[in-house]
Amino acid sequence: MTTYIGTATSRVDGRAKVTGAAKYAGEFNTAGLAHASVVTSTIAKGRIARIDASEALSVAGVIDVFTHQNRPPMASTDSAYKDDVAPEGAPFRPLYNDRIWFSGQPVALVVAEEPEIARFAASLVRVEYDEEAYVTDVHRQREAAFALEPDENPFAPPKPRGAAEQAFAAAAVRHRGEYYVPIEHHNPMELFASTVIFEPDGKLTVYDKTQGVQNVQRYLCSVLGMQPDEVRVLSPFVGGAFGSGLRPQYQALLAALAARAVNRSVRLVLTRQQMYGLAYRPAMIHEITLGANAGGTLDAVMHEAVTVTSQYEDFHRQETGWSGLLYKCANAKYALRLARLDLPTPCDMRAPSAAPAVYALECAIDELAVALKLDPLELRLKCYSDRDQHTDRPYSSKSLRECYRQGAETFGWDKRNPEPCSMREGAELVGWGMATGVWEALQVPIAVRVVLTANGHAEVSCATSDIGTGTYTIMAQVAADMLGLPLDNVTIKLGDSTLPQSPVEGGSWIAASVSNGITTTAGVVREELLRLAKRMPNSPLANAKVDEVALADGRLVSKRDALRTVSIADAMRHGGVDRIEQETTTTFAQDSSHAQNTHSAVFAEVKVDEQLGVIRVTRVVSAVAAGRILNTKTASSQIMGGVVWGIGMALHEETLVDHNFGRIMNANIAEYHVPVNADVHDIKVIFVDEPDEIVNPLGVKGLGEIGIVGVAAAIANAVYHATGKRVRDLPITLDKLQR
Ligand code: MOS
Repeated sequence: MTTYIGTATSRVDGRAKVTGAAKYAGEFNTAGLAHASVVTSTIAKGRIARIDASEALSVAGVIDVFTHQNRPPMASTDSAYKDDVAPEGAPFRPLYNDRIWFSGQPVALVVAEEPEIARFAASLVRVEYDEEAYVTDVHRQREAAFALEPDENPFAPPKPRGAAEQAFAAAAVRHRGEYYVPIEHHNPMELFASTVIFEPDGKLTVYDKTQGVQNVQRYLCSVLGMQPDEVRVLSPFVGGAFGSGLRPQYQALLAALAARAVNRSVRLVLTRQQMYGLAYRPAMIHEITLGANAGGTLDAVMHEAVTVTSQYEDFHRQETGWSGLLYKCANAKYALRLARLDLPTPCDMRAPSAAPAVYALECAIDELAVALKLDPLELRLKCYSDRDQHTDRPYSSKSLRECYRQGAETFGWDKRNPEPCSMREGAELVGWGMATGVWEALQVPIAVRVVLTANGHAEVSCATSDIGTGTYTIMAQVAADMLGLPLDNVTIKLGDSTLPQSPVEGGSWIAASVSNGITTTAGVVREELLRLAKRMPNSPLANAKVDEVALADGRLVSKRDALRTVSIADAMRHGGVDRIEQETTTTFAQDSSHAQNTHSAVFAEVKVDEQLGVIRVTRVVSAVAAGRILNTKTASSQIMGGVVWGIGMALHEETLVDHNFGRIMNANIAEYHVPVNADVHDIKVIFVDEPDEIVNPLGVKGLGEIGIVGVAAAIANAVYHATGKRVRDLPITLDKLQR
C-alpha cells in the first residue's frame, strides 16, 4: 500500500524548476503584452493634493497612466474587497482615492510597451501631498494600544485559568521579561508579479503569485464586477510565499484593472523595494511573567503582548495563547493589545504568532531555569504537559518528550557545562541553548478529482498551490500509493482556479488536507473499479467488499487472498469504459475531544568572537514530531528552511523605519540582512515517530511552519550561555553584546 508515502522521493517538479521549464507569474508571455510600473507614495499619511502625469505620458512607448483620478471603475463597498483571509476592517484599495495610508502605497500605474519604459516614465510622475501627522513606532503607540473584545474573533486570547497574579506573588522564584521582535519583511525569491492575459472576449487569464488562486479569483470578480467564468487565475509555481501570498496583493488588481482599460494583456512585476510596501510581520512587544516553586514546577504564566496593525484593518493572530498551552501550570493569564500605526496592514509570516511569541516564552523559560539553577531541558521536562492546558484535553498525539530525548542525544546536550562563558574554542566563546517549538495540526475542506484511464494513468487535480513546500510531490506519492500505480503514471494539476475547490495553502494545513482528500477520492475510484470487476465472468472478486480490496501494481487485490486479483485495465475493458472520473470533497470532523499540535525540540550551538561579538550558529539539531511524514526529503527541506529563517530572526532580520519620515530605510536585500550560505552551517533534522490515528485517517499533521518555531529562542539562549549576556530584543547584533 505504501511504496512512496514516507520515502525520500525527489520533487516531481524538480527538473522543471532547475531547468527553467517551470514558469512563474511574471514569465508568461503573449503577443502584444504591455508592461506596467507602480509609482508609490513618499509620505506615510495624508492626501494626494496634485498628481501630474503629463511628462510620463509624453514618453514614447507609454500607453497610459492611471491614478485615482482616471482609474476604471472599482467596487465601492468594503465588503467587495474582503478576501478569504481578510481580517476585520476595511481592506486597502489601490488607486481608489486621494487618501494615503502608508509610505510605499501605490499612487499611480504607468502602462507602456516595455518594462524599462514603464519604469522610467513612472519616475516622471509628479505627486504633491497634503501631509498629516503620523506614527510608525510601536513604542510611541504602546500606551494607546487597544484590547480586542474577547468574543470578537477566533484569535482572541484564551480564557485565563486559576489565579495567576496571586500565584506569581507567592512563587518562590520569579521571572518577568520583556522581549521585542522587530518588523520582518517577506523576501521570497520571486517578486510579486501578475501577468494578465486579455482574452479576445474580454475575459481575463491571470498568472499570479499567490497562495490561493480561488481566493484571488473571487477577489478580482468582486472588485471588478466580473463573473466567475470571466476570470481564471493560475499559479502553477510559486517562488516562495510563506504567508505573503495568502491575501491577494495589489499588483494582481492593478494589472487586471489596466488590462481592461487598455484592452491589452498587461504584466506588472513589483520591484524588491516595492515589496516592502506589502508584506511583513508586525513588530511585537511580548512581556512574559513566570512564577515557579523551588522544585521547578510552574505556578504562574502570564503573557501580555502588543502587536501592530494598520489604520484600516485589525490584523492579529493568537499571540498569547502558546504560553499557557505548552507547560503544565494551574494559573495563567493573557492580554493582547493592538497598536495602530501608519503602515500597511501586516500579514502572516511562517508560523504567525508562534514564531515571535514562542521566542519570548522560550527565552523566559531559559531565564527561569537559570534562576532555578536547573538545566533548561530538565525544567521543560518537569513542566511537561500531556494534556492541552487550555481545555484539559488529551492530544491526538504528542511525542515532544521523544523530540527532547533524541534531539539532546544527537546534539550531545549532556556534555554542556551549565556555567555561562565556561566553554570556549580558541578566540571564540561556545554556547549551547535549546528551546521548544509548537504549532497547530490544522486541516481544511478540500476537493480532489481523479481521472483514471485504462492505460493505467491517473490525473489528480486540486486548486491548491504548491508554494515551494513540495505539494506536487506528496500529492503524486499519495495518489500513486492509493491507486496502486507507479509514480511516473500520475500527473498532478494544481494552482488553477478552475480545478476542484481548495482554500489558500497556509497554516501548514494543505499536506494533511490534500493527502486525505486524495485518499477519499481514490477510495471512490476503487469502489467503481470493484463494481466493474464484479461484473466480469467468474470474477475472482465477485464477493469482495470495497474495504477488502486494495489497488496495487495496477490491479485490484483482495486483502484476504492476494491471489484474487483483477487488473484495472481488464475491469475497465469489460465494463466498456476507458476512463473513471471521480471528484469528492473531504471534510474533517472537528474533534473537540483532542488537541492537535505539532512539536519540536531545537538545540543550537553558537560561537561568539570574544573581542568582536560576531556570532556564528555552528550547529542546530531540530527534532520534530509532526505525525506521519509523507516525504522525508521535502519534509527535511521544510524544517531546514525554517531553521535558516530562525537564524535570520535571531541574528539578522530587521526592518528599519525612519520614524521621522515614516519610511523604511532598508527596503532592499543589501541592507535588510538575511542569512546567506556563510551564515548556515550544520543543520540536522530528526523526525520522531508519531503515529496518530485520531488527527486524520493518514495521520498527517503538516510541517511547513513548525521548523521556525523555537529556533530564535534556542539561538538567543545559546548566546546567553556563551557570553553571559541576555539580549531580549531581536536581532542579536554584535553591538548589543558590547553594551
Ligand atoms: Mo503560512 S504564514 O499560513 O503561509
